[in-house]
Amino acid sequence: MDALDLLLNRRSIARLSAPAPEGKALENIIRAGLRAPDHGGLTPWRFVIAQGEGLQKLADILVSAATAENSDQAVMDKVSQAPFRAPMVITVIAKVTEHEKVPAFEQHLSAGCAAQAMQMAAVAQGFQGFWRSGKWMFHDVVRDAFGVSGDDQIVGFLYLGTPGCTPMKVPERDLAKFVEFL
Ligand SMILES: Cc1cc2nc3c(=O)[nH]c(=O)nc-3n(C[C@H](O)[C@H](O)[C@H](O)COP(=O)(O)O)c2cc1C
Repeated sequence: MDALDLLLNRRSIARLSAPAPEGKALENIIRAGLRAPDHGGLTPWRFVIAQGEGLQKLADILVSAATAENSDQAVMDKVSQAPFRAPMVITVIAKVTEHEKVPAFEQHLSAGCAAQAMQMAAVAQGFQGFWRSGKWMFHDVVRDAFGVSGDDQIVGFLYLGTPGCTPMKVPERDLAKFVEFL
């Protein structure tokens, strides 16, 4: 796939089914994440892959967080099912190193770039993805479960799999509304 075509026309797809990327395709996805821009060479990334039983473990973590908040049954049902919307979920974590020139914000951005790069690498190989967040990724129960502390931050759950539908058309956007010249 042409790089520009990927960047200009990619869509996220929420409905994802098996197979998930594996082998060389999964390795390429991780390698793409590891090519995120990285001020100071701090490699501020952790990727936690959930598939199979891992999806149930992720659901259990989310349920524990929702239980800690005394959530109602509708929320419990939602979080217990959430990870099963794809055959693979990669939790993307910014692992922050204290550095005088590279604030935590930049390291969070770098992890976000990694998530995007991984999604693009999935699309380039015929898979699809959807980047999700939500309040649970900031919850202490979830942070603890992933060993996230201090300035570290879960920046997203990257759902990956095989597209179950055709992507929607890319929205037309008026460049003039977004671009200014100094
Ligand atoms: C940091 C981040 C978190 C996101 N979290 C969610 C989410 O929790 N739920 C959701 O529906 N979309 C979320 N999105 C947006 C989707 O990933 C997706 O970009 C959006 O549905 C637009 O589709 P498109 O990528 O095809 O333009 C998030 C995007 C980013 C960058």
